[in-house]
Amino acid sequence: MSDPRDAFDLTGRVAVVTGAGSGIGAETARVLAAAGAAVTCADRNGPAAAATARAITATGATGAAAVVDVAQHTEVDELLERVAAEQGRVDVMANVAGIIDHQLVVDTSEADLDQILAVNLKGVFFGCQAAARRMVTQGSGSIINLSSAAIDAPAAMLAGYAMTKAAVAQLTKTLAVEVGPAGVRVNALAPGFILTPMVGRHFTEPDGTIDEERKELTVAPIRDATPLRRIGAPEDVALAILYLASDASSFMTGQILRPNGGVAMP
Ligand SMILES: NC(=O)c1ccc[n+]([C@@H]2O[C@H](COP(=O)([O-])OP(=O)(O)OC[C@H]3O[C@@H](n4cnc5c(N)ncnc54)[C@H](O)[C@@H]3O)[C@@H](O)[C@H]2O)c1
Repeated sequence: MSDPRDAFDLTGRVAVVTGAGSGIGAETARVLAAAGAAVTCADRNGPAAAATARAITATGATGAAAVVDVAQHTEVDELLERVAAEQGRVDVMANVAGIIDHQLVVDTSEADLDQILAVNLKGVFFGCQAAARRMVTQGSGSIINLSSAAIDAPAAMLAGYAMTKAAVAQLTKTLAVEVGPAGVRVNALAPGFILTPMVGRHFTEPDGTIDEERKELTVAPIRDATPLRRIGAPEDVALAILYLASDASSFMTGQILRPNGGVAMP
């Protein structure tokens, strides 16, 4: 048997990570680059994407920044076309960009519903489309989508978010069936509570300082209900994405991985 570490090696691979300006996306870009991939760090927040790319290149790994609004079909197509033209291929597409919205169903406006559908659902769909077209022609590739533990346990005020994440799981399975014969794999992750700016805003002051008391009030009930008795870190998800991006998972497609500390075991 060859060295199992080789199966996780991404040397020579070309990866695109959306949402790479923050949280899980930034850590995913860092981990994929550290594993050897040339990573395009894409985000609608240009300076944040640039900061991630700078942190990658500072380590000697390969990263570049790109500005994209994943809700804009043409912008996503152009991003993939540009990466493929410049680097000859696209091996990994991680659709990480997402937003959250806390509202009761009865209070949700059509505009707010449209917004979360546009980013979390259509954004992932557009990323899948653009990558799948390229990868099918290429005859290989791995697409990784971000779903959420919100699909496993209904929670009040998260209907829009949970709906989009359930749809992403189903999109993942359907696309896996469609492109599997061409050698392209499609998987998703349904992480539990991961400490990132998305969840941190509940206890972060406008100047960026953390209110430790409010943080503990938010985190404690989640931690105590988690079999592993801790909340997640971006790296917990990024390493699962590395597995799905790499040859280590070459017989996995259409699956939903759950880095969630055990909060749901469907
Ligand atoms: N943090 C958690 O507990 C958790 C749990 C399960 C799933 N997720 C999912 O993981 C993904 C990353 O979440 P995070 O916690 O790192 O969030 P985050 O808010 O820290 O980062 C999200 C990034 O996506 C970018 N983004 C948002 N809309 C965009 C758009 N239209 N086009 C391009 N970029 C856009 C933001 O600028 C930001 O850099 C999301 O899809 C989220 O739903 C997060």
